[in-house]
Amino acid sequence: MLQNISYVLLTEEQIQTRIKELAAELSAEYAGKDPIFVGVLKGVVMFYGDFIKRFTEPCQMDFMWISSYSGTVSTGKMNVKQDLSQDIKGRHVVILEDIFDTGNSLQFTYEHLLSKEPASLKICTLLDKPERRKAGVTVKADYTGFVIPNEFVVGYGLDFNEHYRNLPFVGVLSPEAYEK
Ligand code: IMP
Ligand code: MG
Repeated sequence: MLQNISYVLLTEEQIQTRIKELAAELSAEYAGKDPIFVGVLKGVVMFYGDFIKRFTEPCQMDFMWISSYSGTVSTGKMNVKQDLSQDIKGRHVVILEDIFDTGNSLQFTYEHLLSKEPASLKICTLLDKPERRKAGVTVKADYTGFVIPNEFVVGYGLDFNEHYRNLPFVGVLSPEAYEK
């Protein structure tokens, strides 16, 4: 399967270094606020795990599972497959995402969580592909790991038809992979 990676975009080391910086920044920002970090499954699992163990302040973990994506094409239609396990009303909430692409899923997730009346709601995404943003998406990332070019990437939680999530780096998928 590795032969289907054209090139490595972000090495394991680059990713870990950046996550340490993000965790330090958010630890300072959220000290004393007991934030809830909401991970959007499944792509965020690696980022979530590496981030949260470097967040040094008291916090809570929760997850949401939304879906819409199949293959490399977004259908744009979202639904909540699994909602939060706790009430977030009056709490400081940070959404953790793997990638901010068209923005459909973050827009959906943000509005869904906002309706639960948190005290504050911010977005932290590991990757951002700004060139892909759809018109009408109004949410912005408050914290971003890396801005990346308009390429379909896999690894470090990101998949192509559920494969490649286990790679420890982020790579660009070669066109041959789509043909299989
Ligand atoms: P959006 O709704 O288009 O912003 O897409 C967000 C979701 O689509 C992400 O959480 C990913 O699961 C998936 N996605 C978007 N771009 C990529 C990519 O380059 N590789 C793998 N998955 C992607
Ligand atoms: Mg995802």
